[in-house]
Amino acid sequence: MNLEDYIRDIADFPKPGILFKDITPLLSNHDALVGCANMLAELSPKNMKIDKVIGIESRGFIIGAMIAERLGAGFVPVRKKGKLPYQVKSKDYGLEYGHDTLEIHIDAIKKGEHVLIHDDVLATGGTADAVCKLVEDLGGIVVQCNFIMELDFLNGRNRLNAPVSALVTYE
Ligand code: PRP
Ligand code: MG
Repeated sequence: MNLEDYIRDIADFPKPGILFKDITPLLSNHDALVGCANMLAELSPKNMKIDKVIGIESRGFIIGAMIAERLGAGFVPVRKKGKLPYQVKSKDYGLEYGHDTLEIHIDAIKKGEHVLIHDDVLATGGTADAVCKLVEDLGGIVVQCNFIMELDFLNGRNRLNAPVSALVTYE
C-alpha cells in the first residue's frame, strides 16, 4: 500500500503560502488507517517495553491511540494550553505558522518510563521538540518520535535528540 496516495495537498491552508498535507483520506479508508497504524507500530524499538505512547493534539491523537493499543502501552495526550483538567507542565514552542503552548499532566509519565511520541507530521520539529522536553521534565525517556510523514526540507529531524521514523518523506 502506498500511503502517499491517501494524503492530499491543500494549497494556502491555513494561511497563504502553506501547502497543507491533509490526512483525512487516509483516516477514512479502513485499509490505509489500519495499515498506517500497523506500520508505525512495527517501526517501534523492539528491544524494550514501551510504557506510554504520546499523541500530540490534535492530529496525533488518532493514530497515536492505535499504536498504543498495538504495543500494549498506555496512551497519553499532550494538549494545547488550557485543555487538560489536572495539574500540568507547560512548554511554549514555535510552529511553522505561529506559536503555541503544549501541556501534559504531571502524573502522565513516571520516572524512567519508555515513551514513544507520535504525531501526523514532522515539519520544523518545534512541536515534537517541545513534547520531548515535557517528557524529559517528567523523568521519562523518549525512545522514538514517529510520524506518518516528514517534510524533510524543513530539517525538523535535526532538532530532535531521539530517533525519528516516518512512513512518507517529502523532499
Ligand atoms: C501541525 C501538525 C504537527 C505540527 C508540525 O499541528 O499536526 O503537530 O503542526 O509542525 P512543526 O514540526 O513545525 O512543529 P497544528 O499545530 O497545526 O495542530 P493540529 O494538529 O491540531 O492541526
Ligand atoms: Mg498537530
